[in-house]
Amino acid sequence: MYTSPPNPSASAPAKPWTVPALREAKRDGRRLAMLTCYDAGFARVFDAAGIDLILVGDSLGMVVQGHASTLPVTVADTAYHTACVARGLSRALLVADLPFQSDATPERALDAATALLQAGAGMVKLEGAGHKLDVIRFLVEREIPVCGHLGLTPQSVLRLGGYKVQGRDEAAAARLRDDARAVQDAGASLLVLECVPTPVAAAITADLDIPTIGIGAGPQCDGQVLVLHDMLGLDSGHRRPRFVKDFLAGGGSVAGAAAAFAQAVRDGRFPDAEHSYA
Ligand code: KIV
Repeated sequence: MYTSPPNPSASAPAKPWTVPALREAKRDGRRLAMLTCYDAGFARVFDAAGIDLILVGDSLGMVVQGHASTLPVTVADTAYHTACVARGLSRALLVADLPFQSDATPERALDAATALLQAGAGMVKLEGAGHKLDVIRFLVEREIPVCGHLGLTPQSVLRLGGYKVQGRDEAAAARLRDDARAVQDAGASLLVLECVPTPVAAAITADLDIPTIGIGAGPQCDGQVLVLHDMLGLDSGHRRPRFVKDFLAGGGSVAGAAAAFAQAVRDGRFPDAEHSYA
């Protein structure tokens, strides 16, 4: 999958991304640009535009399948889209989401993660800490790289009562900091922080050796991710969160928008205060 020649026009290093290279990027202070993607056509464009990490998110349930939440997405759905995206990539590292309850036990997670890696993913992402720490350890011990996901975890939407900023008060912020360290200690290689106040995400980022990838988590994360439809200013039929920015408006084309997003992330220009939570 990662055998095609690198794209010479991309401003980022042309070597294919590997899991160990993520920690090196953090050590070197090189910010990471990540987009979600669900098919080979967009994958090819994003790869050539220098996007470092591609996520087949379970957001596909909302922006591709038209559901009201991510809960209906299955392992088969994610594996199908992962295989499509993998065919379009030569350089970016491909991360695939473990769908709702496919990670409820270590054994179920191993089956689901194996299917996603066999479809072409280089890493799987799962939401939460608590009992998920055993799942992370179980997968990592079996050679499956894991990305954690804390803060607003969309698979918890029923318990949370909506898509809300997390870690606002001191007790919740302390819990998030403890969970982030526990996710790293369990063996995760990357951590997505979603809808977390800027100072809380900054403290977590400073505390960890693995890169943090923010979405609505302020500019001090080690990288940023956006859902592809949000980055292109498409109306996905859902409420538009504060952190969303339309890069197509200034980028002129899909390739230009992806390159503008990547550059803004690398320069530390995105997100600004207007697209973050204080
Ligand atoms: O499913 C998804 O697209 C995600 C991102 C929002 C991080 O998890």
